[in-house]
This record gives sequence, C-alpha cells and structure tokens, in this order.
Amino acid sequence: MCGIVGYIGGKKAIDFLLDGLTKLEYRGYDSAGVAVNCGENIFVEKAVGRLDSLKEKLKNNLPVGTIGIGHTRWATHGRPSDLNAHPHSDCHKNFFVVHNGIIENYLQLKEQLIAKGHKFISETDTEVVAHLLEENYHGDFVLAVRDVLAKIEGSYSLLFMSKFDPDTLIAAKQDNPLIIGIGKDGENFIASDIPAIIPFTRQTYILNDGDIAIVKKDSISFVNRQGLPIDKKIFHVKWNAQAAEKGGYEHFMLKEINEQPKAVRDTISPHLNGKVTFNELNWNADFLNDINKIYIVACGTAYHAGLVGKFYIEKLVRKLVEVDLASEFRYRNPIVDNKTLVIVVSQSGETSDTLAALKESKRLGAKTLAVTNVVGSSIAREAEFVIHTAAGPEIAVASTKAYTTQLISMFMLALYMAQILKSVPAEEIERLIKLLKKIPAQISETLSDVEPIKTFAQMYGFNDDVFYIGRSLDYCVALEGALKLKEISYIHAEAYASGELKHGTLALIVEGVPVIALATQKSVYEKTLSNIKEVKARDAIVIGIAAAGNTSLEKYLDHVIFVPETDELLIPLLAVVPLQLLAYYAAITRGCDVDKPRNLAKSVTVE
Ligand code: F6R
Repeated sequence: MCGIVGYIGGKKAIDFLLDGLTKLEYRGYDSAGVAVNCGENIFVEKAVGRLDSLKEKLKNNLPVGTIGIGHTRWATHGRPSDLNAHPHSDCHKNFFVVHNGIIENYLQLKEQLIAKGHKFISETDTEVVAHLLEENYHGDFVLAVRDVLAKIEGSYSLLFMSKFDPDTLIAAKQDNPLIIGIGKDGENFIASDIPAIIPFTRQTYILNDGDIAIVKKDSISFVNRQGLPIDKKIFHVKWNAQAAEKGGYEHFMLKEINEQPKAVRDTISPHLNGKVTFNELNWNADFLNDINKIYIVACGTAYHAGLVGKFYIEKLVRKLVEVDLASEFRYRNPIVDNKTLVIVVSQSGETSDTLAALKESKRLGAKTLAVTNVVGSSIAREAEFVIHTAAGPEIAVASTKAYTTQLISMFMLALYMAQILKSVPAEEIERLIKLLKKIPAQISETLSDVEPIKTFAQMYGFNDDVFYIGRSLDYCVALEGALKLKEISYIHAEAYASGELKHGTLALIVEGVPVIALATQKSVYEKTLSNIKEVKARDAIVIGIAAAGNTSLEKYLDHVIFVPETDELLIPLLAVVPLQLLAYYAAITRGCDVDKPRNLAKSVTVE
C-alpha cells in the first residue's frame, strides 16, 4: 500500500500535497516525496522515514509551482531510502510518476530499457514506468501513457506529470484505488483515498479498473485504455473526515479484516508463474538437503501462523519443524547449528524478542529466513533471506490481515520447497496451486455473510468464558480465534486441542458455556465430532465452523458457520475469518475500544 496525491490549479501545489500526504500516511510511512512543476524546472524532494522528515527538508524551501504530485511509500520492491522514494523519473527528468501497487513484469521491462540505454537509479519496480513513458512519448501525453499501460502487468494506481504538458496530470487505475476530487475554483485534486480531499471537496470521481483520467485545472475527462471516451458519474462523499480515513469502516480492525482478499491476492501474485517462484530465495536441492531441522520462531498471532506453517512444511516437505515462542527460544539454549533453518515471522519486523531470536540463531550459525510485512524493518535487514507479505500497513492492534498473508506465504514457501525436493508429485502441486488461487475470492465470500456472526456476538458477548476447540490445523486456528477474542473484548477465552478436553478442561464445561468448535479438517473429522458430542452432553452452547456442504454436523450443534470448501491445508485461511469477526462484534457489544485495546501496543519493541 502507498498513498498518492496530485494537485493542479491556481494555488501552491505543495500545500495540498503535504496536507494530503498527512491524511494518507496510514497507507505507508517508510519514505515520502513530491515533484512540483515550477515552470523552468521540476522541483523534487524526497526523504526516507516518516512524512515529518520530508516536511523538515522542505521547511525553508517550499516550491511555488501550481501543479504537482506526491507519494508516501510502503516499500515492496527496494528497501526504504531516498533513492527508492517516489516520485520516479526518466533519464532526462522530463516525466515523473508516483505509483501504488506492483509492476510484475518490471525486471523484463527494465532489461529491455537498459539495452536501449536507459539509466536506472533506484531498485523499484516503479522506475520502469517513468522510463517507459520517456521511450513512448512522441508529443502526445495521453497516447504515451496508454502505450505504457499496454506494456505493464500487475496492479497499480499511477499518476503522471510531464514537463512538456504543464497543464495536465494523468491518472490510471488497475486494482489499487484512485479518486479525483472536483475543485470549485479552477483546481482539481487526485488522491488514493477520500480523507486527503475531503477538506477541499466532496464531489469526486472514483476511478474503475482500466480508467484513465486526464486532469486539467478547469476540466476532467476520461478515456479507456483504447482511447475511447468514458462518461463517469460524480460520487458525492457523505462520510465525515474521520470515518473517511477508515474507508467508511467504523474501525481499522474491521477495515483490515475486509482487506484480506486483496492482501492475500497481492501476497500471492508476485510468486505464481505456472509454479511457485521466490526469486529472493533462489534455493536449490543442495541447499535444502543440507537442512536437517527447521524452527519457526515468532510471537502472538505470528506464532499462531507459525504453528500452521509447521503443518505445511512437515506435510509437503517432510522435514522436521519446531515452532517456538520467540520470548522462550533463546533462553533455553536451542539446538541450532549450520544445518538448521530458522524462520522468523513478524508483521512489524521490529518485535524485540523475535529480532533477538534471529540474532541468536545467526550467532549459532543457522540459515535464517524472515517472513515480514515491513520492507526495510530490522528483522528484514538482519535475516539472510526475506519473504515479504503484502498486507499493507496494519494499524489495528489486533492482527488480522497480517495473519492470513503469513499463512499464504508459508504455504507457498512449503510448495516452493516441495517443488525443488520433488517431495510431492507435480500434479498434487498443480492442484494445490489451483486451490490457492481461489482463496482471495473465497475469503470475500466468507466476509459476505456477517449477520449471523453479529447475532452470535450479541448473544454470547457477555459471557465470562468462551472455549475454542479443534484438532490438527483447527487447533491452530482455535488458538488464534481465542487470542482475538481475549485481546479486544477482554473475555476469558481458551483454546484446547479437542482431544485434551477430557484430560482436565472438560471440568469447566457447564451448562450455557459457549464453545466454538472448529470442524474443518476432514482427516480428523470423526474424532472432532465425538469431542463436540462430549461438550454438548455437558449442555454447552456449541457454535461450529465447518466446510460448506457438511450439513450432517448441524444436528449436533446449536449454530454452524459454513466457510467455502477447499483443501484442508488451506481452510485455516477461511476458518479464521468468522473468528476475527466474532471477536470484533463481541468487542463492539461490550463497548470496547477495538483498535486500541487496553494495555497493548501495536509493535512490541521491548522485551
Ligand atoms: C495479536 C497481535 C500480536 C502480534 C505480536 C507479534 O493480534 O497482533 O500478538 O502478532 O506482537 O508482532 P509482530 O508480528 O509484529 O512480530
């Protein structure tokens, strides 16, 4: 995720650009930059770090031009740095571009452009767009942009500025949001999201995939990629400024839960090319055969994702995996040497225990891999290998979209290792890849039926205790479901491996206690069913989570929430969604501060 802004009109562009970027900083905050057309020259300033660093640099040197573009970055390709910050430009600094998304074929395009003599200065995928524009510009700005769009593949919202066309900005959208704000006095605005433009106008155009907007100070027109004009309806924004920041959702957590289809899709797409690819790893059979043990080390939700990762790697790669809490790992003298692979999982990339476990593993000679959401984070910099999840900034303290993107990353990692070691037949890998591609749409389907979940949350939100049970991968998801409920609704929630109930916990199951029973794993279904009967026999209220079609379960339960059918390895990505929603609505029922639960902070950088 990144934030884009643009201004064209009669006032100093920089005022809107900085104000708009401030509103969009939630979309990315590892670097920021602006480009303003000042007539003779195009003024450019960039700064790594928060937007304040850019503001500091601009303090005594504000450009006066009235057309400009700006960007706040969430790094995907290339670490956070001044050079990798947007806007990016061509060799002669005639064209400037800001981008939100991923250009999937950028390496191939970059090679072609280098062969033609173009000089690149950043590590980003975006820079190819500016050089492509230079290559395709023959006096017609719109035509050149259309030619560029015909050559790039991937997801984007793009905003272009040309030195030769000082009265025009061009915007284009594919999969990432872009909005045009219609100004009143000979000015127009462009932004990734409504909060940036709401102080100036509520009249907007929302770009659809394939739209190209030609924005001048007195006019806005639209064409499609074939150059044919499009009629667009004005969208009047009714949200207040605060709601707009959350995309109309009441809380960041709910917004992030709903962002999961896109986050998972963005995490998958750079790594599927007929088979699973991880160019950043480039491992071979010798490297993998040299590994005799794998640890997955993490904290909290990321630890729960690690538990699922263990199933993936053990099942598909047949290598031993241990999962450890980062806060425990380094204090128990772990058996780690140069034949050990240590995988650390961390959304923020800054969790101090996870970072310390990583450092300790390196000291002991292990090969290290980080799965993290933040490019350029301490953990990303420290690990030998890095896989990035593409969840975008996670603002809510309770982690949701980071968890599902961690799961899908580890699933793809296991498939990648299995491909190299041929530990799974090629047809089975093909089958799993097909199912993997369906997951984003299946998450959307799961998200479309919230009403029953809201009702359960209202019915049981005031109970003191809730139990979560499941076997195998269902147990891992149960742990995550219980953590979500605890941290935001303050209800005492415990997850148990179903088979363990009769070894003690069953004593706590009394009449009316809510039990969330996960029953998605076909291989242990009959066993799970007998555990469900055990709690039902003690008059618990049982809510089941099951795969669609399993209607036979209904008679044993008080309520069932169905999730779409897929392989049992992938179903945790779907089964967790109703649990996230249940926690969210239980917290709302109890009047809790969902995004900022008591005693907790987003990134735990202290031990
Ligand atoms: C729970 C939650 C925490 C984090 C944990 C690790 O919702 O967010 O349990 O998962 O603090 O954080 P990262 O992944 O940033 O290392």
